Amino acid sequence: MPDAATMDKIVALCKRRGFIFASSEIYGGLGSTYDYGHYGVLLKTNVKNEWWRAMLQERDDIVALDSAILQHPRTWEASGHLAGFTDPMVDCRACGQRFRADHLQDLPCPRKPSKHPGDAEPCDLTETRDFNLMFETTMGPVEDSAATVYLRPETAQGIFVNFKNVLQFSRKKPPFGIAQVGKSFRNEITPGNFVFRTREFEQMEMEFFVPPDQAPEWYEFWKRARMDWYTDLGLRSDHLRLREHDPDELSHYSSGTADVEYLFPIGWSELEGIANRGDFDLTQHAEYSGEKLEYFDSQTKERYVPHVIEPAAGADRATLAFLADAYDEEEVDGEQRTVLKLHPRLAPVKVAVLPLVRKDGQPEVAREIVAALRGRMQTEYDEGGSIGKRYRRQDEIGTPFCLTVDHQTLDDRTVTVRERDTLAQARVAIDELPETLAARLAASWQSPKLAPA
Ligand code: GAP
Repeated sequence: MPDAATMDKIVALCKRRGFIFASSEIYGGLGSTYDYGHYGVLLKTNVKNEWWRAMLQERDDIVALDSAILQHPRTWEASGHLAGFTDPMVDCRACGQRFRADHLQDLPCPRKPSKHPGDAEPCDLTETRDFNLMFETTMGPVEDSAATVYLRPETAQGIFVNFKNVLQFSRKKPPFGIAQVGKSFRNEITPGNFVFRTREFEQMEMEFFVPPDQAPEWYEFWKRARMDWYTDLGLRSDHLRLREHDPDELSHYSSGTADVEYLFPIGWSELEGIANRGDFDLTQHAEYSGEKLEYFDSQTKERYVPHVIEPAAGADRATLAFLADAYDEEEVDGEQRTVLKLHPRLAPVKVAVLPLVRKDGQPEVAREIVAALRGRMQTEYDEGGSIGKRYRRQDEIGTPFCLTVDHQTLDDRTVTVRERDTLAQARVAIDELPETLAARLAASWQSPKLAPA
């Protein structure tokens, strides 16, 4: 059966339910920037928390960092971004639009969408030029070239420039990692496909510093670990693959890079990159800063520049993949339901408490249940509209459990627990809800959309 998820349906659901919407909408929007509403914040926060959990809580060889977005401009000279972080672009003199020169065959001509830019009358493309993707701004009140700084285009460099600090304070020795989550900015020539490619986005990056001879084995380790992270969180394994870069695709510093790719509604596309960056970054920053960025092993008396394995993921792109993977449409009792079959750990709301009617003491009991649960899990109270409508609303935001308070509740202090995926309903005693629900949320879960093996 074809997958129900299309980009248009995901965008519509995200707007309808307040997950993600165009930024500055009342002013007509601002090219490819997006705002996250309540459920979008909860979902993306869960994605980031799961990443932190995998990096910090489940390991003892990685430490956290939160570096500044604005960094010394020499950072970007040393990293190579100032000279080389460019995309080839062309302008069309006829329509005034700008295009990625290497994406022309994938783009519609703005005047004649059935053609590509350059293929229709009166397209008039300029020669290809390199366009630096870094956003520039000025620091302080004087606008001269000495005050030019850049919004970081990746979080990674904030980690490299802090290598010495972390080494000093964390009491770690290679192999060890530094992890960071934060905003990055790229003046993409052709952003698009919703939050897949935007100009402002969040990254989840970890730089793992290893003795040089261990780099190949850690590269293999992190490729496997990162694939497992996505499948453990429910992404369908038949929609995920690892693609090793061809030698001519590799960055000048990389001896190996693989992309985790997901089968988005737009086709197979990069979700995350895992790179063996060698000693390029620490060597460059040592040269440009004059600081020694190396490790001295006091036992072996060996001094070396660690090599780096980098899993670099995007929080927005991962959120989009989880949404696309979860989106489903089904017919239930002759009615269509749209449902997000998200892993319960990612679901924005874990449990909704719904009094059947807004009287007879039911809202009071429902509020009592909310108070008992909310310290342990994200809980929502909803008394507005028919019970069917409220179930649909919770299905659309991916809530795994709905609790219905009804007439029987007042007699025997039980509620109906309705499961999102199976629609099974069972009565559970109010006193048992916190333990029962916590156990079910912690249980392993597999996407019901996964094709049987
Ligand atoms: N430090 C290495 C690095 O930044 P990258 O492949 O350019 O590598 C890593 O970026 C991840 O960041 C990508 O796999 C993607 O998930 C996310 N990302 C990159 N550019 C993005 C954009 N314009 N919009 C949304 N996410 C982006």
